[in-house]
Amino acid sequence: MFAPSLPAENDPLPLPAQDHALLSTLSTRRSSKVAHLSAPGPDRATLNAILQLAVRVPDHGKMAPWRFVVIGGEARMELGKVTAAIARAAKPDADGSLEEIEQARFTRAPIVLAVVSAPRENPKVPVWEQELSAGALCHSIGLAARGYGFACTWLTEWVAYDRAFAAALGLSEQERLAGLLYLGTPTEAPTERPRPDAAALTTWL
Ligand SMILES: Cc1cc2nc3c(=O)[nH]c(=O)nc-3n(C[C@H](O)[C@H](O)[C@H](O)COP(=O)(O)O)c2cc1C
Repeated sequence: MFAPSLPAENDPLPLPAQDHALLSTLSTRRSSKVAHLSAPGPDRATLNAILQLAVRVPDHGKMAPWRFVVIGGEARMELGKVTAAIARAAKPDADGSLEEIEQARFTRAPIVLAVVSAPRENPKVPVWEQELSAGALCHSIGLAARGYGFACTWLTEWVAYDRAFAAALGLSEQERLAGLLYLGTPTEAPTERPRPDAAALTTWL
């Protein structure tokens, strides 16, 4: 498996220079539809390599205010049973398709990576900035996954906002899900989405 060598702390790093490969990659960045994800997903070594690249995101105060929970294999079904029970309790009159949908929720990709925002009190670093760092991390993971040939779909859906689900995943009261990143091999090439007009969104002073 290819893994770029990672610089050590205080190693000199290259100055920015024109990088057409990077620009092209950014110009075609897209999420896959979750329905277009299949096996294989990244194995343990590859997922670790993806995360090791991605964790060098902007992070005020070097707090690393995030962590990961990997949902793969049988755990996807087990967790689906948990969401089915939560959903059933909330909607006792829903028909039987509720269980079917919920039990399959995490089987939509070979690996579902829960990115947990875990902010801590810090007089110099507002919680908001720590949460922004978690969002930047999700984006970096998607890019690193692409570098290894995997597609990534960043979803939250209702489960990311449900405290019972958070508890089942082992989150503390202070922690929240920044995203559930569905990782797998794309079965179809995506098509481009409308691109916002950056100039129209920009004020120059
Ligand atoms: C924090 C966050 C949560 C998201 N949650 C959902 C979601 O629950 N369901 C969904 O269809 N898309 C969700 N999206 C959007 C997709 O991840 C994706 O960005 C969108 O489908 C457009 O594809 P693109 O990334 O190629 O532009 C979310 C995006 C973000 C940033």
